[in-house]
Amino acid sequence: MKFCLGIESTAHTFGVGIVTFDGKILANAKRQFTTSEGGMIPSDVARHHEEIKEVVLKEALEKANVSWKDISLISYSAAPGLAPCLIVGKNFAAALAKEHDIALVGVNHSICHLTIGDLICGAKDPMYLYVSGPNTQVIGLSGGRYRVFGETLDVGLGNMLDKFAREIGLGFPGGPKVEKLAVGKYVELPYSVKGMDVSFAGMLTKALRLFRSGTPKEDVCFSLQETAFAMLAEVAERALAHTGKSELLLIGGVAANKRLCKMLDVMCKGRGAKFHAVPLEYSGDQGVMIAWQGVLQFKAGETVNPDGAQIRPYERVDDVPVFWK
Ligand code: ATP
Ligand code: FE2
Repeated sequence: MKFCLGIESTAHTFGVGIVTFDGKILANAKRQFTTSEGGMIPSDVARHHEEIKEVVLKEALEKANVSWKDISLISYSAAPGLAPCLIVGKNFAAALAKEHDIALVGVNHSICHLTIGDLICGAKDPMYLYVSGPNTQVIGLSGGRYRVFGETLDVGLGNMLDKFAREIGLGFPGGPKVEKLAVGKYVELPYSVKGMDVSFAGMLTKALRLFRSGTPKEDVCFSLQETAFAMLAEVAERALAHTGKSELLLIGGVAANKRLCKMLDVMCKGRGAKFHAVPLEYSGDQGVMIAWQGVLQFKAGETVNPDGAQIRPYERVDDVPVFWK
């Protein structure tokens, strides 16, 4: 049996995951950098990762019950992310690869969110709906690359819900709070779909105005969900129709929302497609997805020299040729 150890360090999370070459998950150790005020100063996050990296590594090795001689590959998140944080992960991975004489590979973190979804849900060639705090994107494999078919033109859906919740005193994170309160009546909010893109800024402004002029928060929360999720269902459906794909895979923190899952499931059923939502443990940032993508690229023949290992802070999903599929 062959094993891969994956190291995640693009942003707030430092994670170490261990998987087998045939996709069995053995460990998923991680720590998140947090502050009471929120926000992240890259050098502080990098220092956090530097301080806890050995502990997280040890935890993963113990959980998986493997030693260095069992590990055939080390994978690290080379892109995209905060440069100081990427450097911590890259240096750690390269040093371990040299010390234990193990092959090394660097992967794109955004692509890992997609391919771990495939593994966990058993999807073959889905359309992906990636909805987290900052991101709202419809992505699909086409012409040998993961293409962004549509995205938000302003804020990500999660950040919009967080901002609304913070402004009306519900606290952070806002998504789950809004979901709990979404039990009122529908009031009209701007429904803003432009081609394959969506926009949430106008909806946020109107929702806050309604709340401040006395509309019950239950009505506003209900309407925010119904409107925003219907917009996502519309663009996701159009992407399925245009590409002829027959699966939709929902990833990112907002995938925890039951109403969103229900609406997407109904839309998929209506057109004979299959809907999958990635469970929370694997939809957020972690090392398991880095390890699994490393396996895919290694099996397709890729390795990097530890001395020449790189980071690419600005690489987008569609910059990477998908040579492993
Ligand atoms: P990324 O990994 O893309 O850089 P991130 O760290 O913000 O972003 P996640 O942890 O994937 O991302 O998602 C966090 C977001 O998910 C927050 O905005 C939060 O409000 C939202 N969220 C969490 N649970 C729910 C829910 N039940 N309904 C709606 N939104 C939710
Ligand atoms: Fe991420």
